[in-house]
Amino acid sequence: MLLDLVKKRRSIRKFTDEDISDKEIHEIIEVALHAPTAKNQNPVRYIVVKDRDRIQELSKYKKIGSKFLSGAKIAIAVVTDTDISPVTNHQDASIAATYILLKVAEMNLGATWGNVTDAVNEEGRPSQEVLKEFFKLDDKFNVECVIGIGHPAEEKSEKVPFDYDENVFEDLDVVK
Ligand SMILES: Cc1cc2nc3c(=O)[nH]c(=O)nc-3n(C[C@H](O)[C@H](O)[C@H](O)COP(=O)(O)O)c2cc1C
Repeated sequence: MLLDLVKKRRSIRKFTDEDISDKEIHEIIEVALHAPTAKNQNPVRYIVVKDRDRIQELSKYKKIGSKFLSGAKIAIAVVTDTDISPVTNHQDASIAATYILLKVAEMNLGATWGNVTDAVNEEGRPSQEVLKEFFKLDDKFNVECVIGIGHPAEEKSEKVPFDYDENVFEDLDVVK
């Protein structure tokens, strides 16, 4: 059931040493490749990082909130070609990234989304710029997020949903 899966999915930032196979990586990305994209244009690209040293380096792409990557077994950067989808690239990438998080949870692996927008590294350099250099990306690309994935070394309780009545409105109600 999808509801069971969304309850199970939590952000996992601590990982064991256990490897993730190429077959597992393929299974994860295969799901993302089914994600909807505006006009079915698919501007989304996936960059898989497996090398330990590269992952260590990647964990410094921003000052706050990317350290968890250092323990991850793989990282997947979700990138878009903004020439293909100048307007909807963020939405397209976000849906694909969400598919990745859900598939990871289904496989009893753990993951966390690393945000890039408006982030800077220790030296104050924009993380977008840092990542474009790291991945040797042409300027037309946008790195939407960097997802760290591994076998969980922390346990989290089931996801508690936001309150229905506080967040759902009937048409013509005043939304608060
Ligand atoms: C758009 C987005 C950006 C996020 N950026 C980061 C991040 O940069 N670093 C991080 O550790 N977690 C990040 N997270 C994870 C959130 O902190 C996490 O989803 C939230 O606290 C709810 O916890 P849960 O995922 O366990 O339900 C991000 C999540 C989303 C959806």
